[in-house]
Amino acid sequence: MTRAVLQDEIERLGPWFHDLDLDGVRTAPDHPLGPFLEEIWRSVESAFPEDMRGTTVLDIGCNAGFYALKLTDRGADVMGVDRDARYLAQARFAAEVRGVDLELEQMDVYDVDRLGRQFDYVLFMGVLYHLRHPLYGLEKAAGRARERFVFQTMVRGADDVFEPQADYPIDERRVFEERGFPAMYFVEHRYAGDQTNWWIPNDAGAAAMLRSVGLRIEAHPGPGIYVCAPLGGPSGERTRHEAVQAGGAA
Ligand SMILES: C[S@@+](CC[C@H](N)C(=O)[O-])C[C@H]1O[C@@H](n2cnc3c(N)ncnc32)[C@H](O)[C@@H]1O
Repeated sequence: MTRAVLQDEIERLGPWFHDLDLDGVRTAPDHPLGPFLEEIWRSVESAFPEDMRGTTVLDIGCNAGFYALKLTDRGADVMGVDRDARYLAQARFAAEVRGVDLELEQMDVYDVDRLGRQFDYVLFMGVLYHLRHPLYGLEKAAGRARERFVFQTMVRGADDVFEPQADYPIDERRVFEERGFPAMYFVEHRYAGDQTNWWIPNDAGAAAMLRSVGLRIEAHPGPGIYVCAPLGGPSGERTRHEAVQAGGAA
């Protein structure tokens, strides 16, 4: 493919959220979040083995494949899902130009159970705050992970991480005013001009939700960034949700 054809195709498939280098042509050189994604990657890359041959990855909300392509570079078998066909077309093109296999499917996070299998590594980056039903979506995403769940969300509010006690009496009110009490802000209209931003947690809220869907937090390398391991399976620990569903105490 000549440089001119490459450039035309990149333009035709745009606008791009991911700034990828495709044979020397950048897809979103002016995107303000370009360096931000590289920074996030650097903060989580040690969660993945250098040699990932024989391992499987699911990237939920993969967009144009920024993270998925990083992991194909390490030899993993990567599947990317996204609900937006335009982003999947970008990811398909990027994989073709890079000459790598990337399995792509249009799918909503709420439906990932339909994949019918688990993956060694699941990435759920930059998606939570786009969900109207975030805990439900997080639970579905976490349920696909066997080894590690790598997560990132926008966070707002206090960045102290206050871990609440297991219970409080009903007349305890002040604890809700603690800085860093797990919380989410509901965006009724728009945030950053984006009407798909629905709920933005503070850092403690993100951590609490991850624990609540049965994940153990192994690392918190930056605001809103978490490397987790599923608790289920081998350790047999139940989430509070599972316990409530089963009609028992947590
Ligand atoms: C802010 S971008 C993040 C992309 C990429 N994961 C990253 O961290 O750079 C959000 C992505 O999530 C996708 N998305 C939003 N809601 C989704 C949903 N309910 N199910 C699947 N993908 C979704 C969007 O189409 C978009 O590609």
